[in-house]
Amino acid sequence: MNYTGLRFERCGETTMTDAIRVGIAGATGLVGEEMASLLESSSLPVSELRLFASADSAGERYAFRDLEVEVEELGTALFDGLDYILGATSADLAESYVPRATATGCRVIDNSSRFRMDDTVPLIVPEVNFAAVTDAHRIIANPNCSTIQLVPVLNALHEIGGLARVVVSSYQAVSGAGRDALDELFEETRALMNQTEYQRDVFPARIAFNCIPAIDTFLENGYTKEEMKIINESRKILGIPDLKITATCVRVPVFHGHAESVNVSLEKETSLPAVLEALTNVPGLLLFPESSAYPMQCDVAGQDHIAVGRVRRDESLPCGYNLWVVADNVRKGAALNAIQILEQLVRVVH
Ligand SMILES: NC(=O)c1ccc[n+]([C@@H]2O[C@H](COP(=O)([O-])OP(=O)(O)OC[C@H]3O[C@@H](n4cnc5c(N)ncnc54)[C@H](OP(=O)(O)O)[C@@H]3O)[C@@H](O)[C@H]2O)c1
Repeated sequence: MNYTGLRFERCGETTMTDAIRVGIAGATGLVGEEMASLLESSSLPVSELRLFASADSAGERYAFRDLEVEVEELGTALFDGLDYILGATSADLAESYVPRATATGCRVIDNSSRFRMDDTVPLIVPEVNFAAVTDAHRIIANPNCSTIQLVPVLNALHEIGGLARVVVSSYQAVSGAGRDALDELFEETRALMNQTEYQRDVFPARIAFNCIPAIDTFLENGYTKEEMKIINESRKILGIPDLKITATCVRVPVFHGHAESVNVSLEKETSLPAVLEALTNVPGLLLFPESSAYPMQCDVAGQDHIAVGRVRRDESLPCGYNLWVVADNVRKGAALNAIQILEQLVRVVH
């Protein structure tokens, strides 16, 4: 396989000296568990870790480095003494616990959609816009998974040619809908193979051996919430409020990894080699520059990078390009992005 340009926006061996005390809300979910694992393998000087989840998980014990940590019930938790909380709960839960946490002096990096479009909250992909964070911000929002893998690519193309219009079609893994969704794909597939009944619980239609062109609920304009997240969050992160961008989001029967077919129209004539070079320079992006090589969801599962391939001229446009963008939605699309934000925050403000 031929690829170029892998570099990560991580802090590596740091100059941090002060220990930090960290909490994870939603610690027993897909994103929360990945956050704990990435935190454990990072060089962050964590002196205390607290884990929060529902009453069902309270009392479960997890090992973290040389600590043993017991899960606490989020609803009744006090956050005194914590410096940072990594949030991996639903938006409704974030609405209730985040103000309690910031009131005790914690900074919260929240993965839910609750604060993403709040004008007072920075929405951050570190490779693109960490500069939007100031010392005054107590809440930092992590974007939607399908947005996180898209904006570093769009940002690179915008810098060299100016974005005129973007069309995104996504092929999103079931893990994007949480742990119960993994079980649903597995159980429904098994039931179909065994010709037995399956009572669907997570998705609105059959996901086994099928694609569902609807993620999250429908809005009045005919788009789904997931599609509008890509549109609105990309505009906010890139700082282009009037960016012409449209999206269609599709759930596919894949456990891990989101793929996106991205069609970009640029304002300025820009050559294919210039586009490839710009992508090569994006930290954490693995480029497949040859037209016959391409990344797939099964390649990126469990990996940190965003992979880009199938980069080619759109011959129907004066300066258009087609790209194929894939990433692990639970890692770069959620947990890793949050840990990168934490690493940068600790370096800059702690
Ligand atoms: N999965 C992804 O790819 C992805 C990507 C980007 C953003 N996100 C966002 O990240 C958040 C977490 O997603 P996820 O996929 O990790 O979901 P998940 O696997 O379903 O996990 C949900 C977490 O929330 C906890 N929880 C549920 N009800 C609770 C309650 N009443 N009180 C306290 N805790 C409760 C669960 O605890 P129990 O185990 O005790 O029930 C679990 O720890 C969501 O906002 C999601 O939209 C997810």
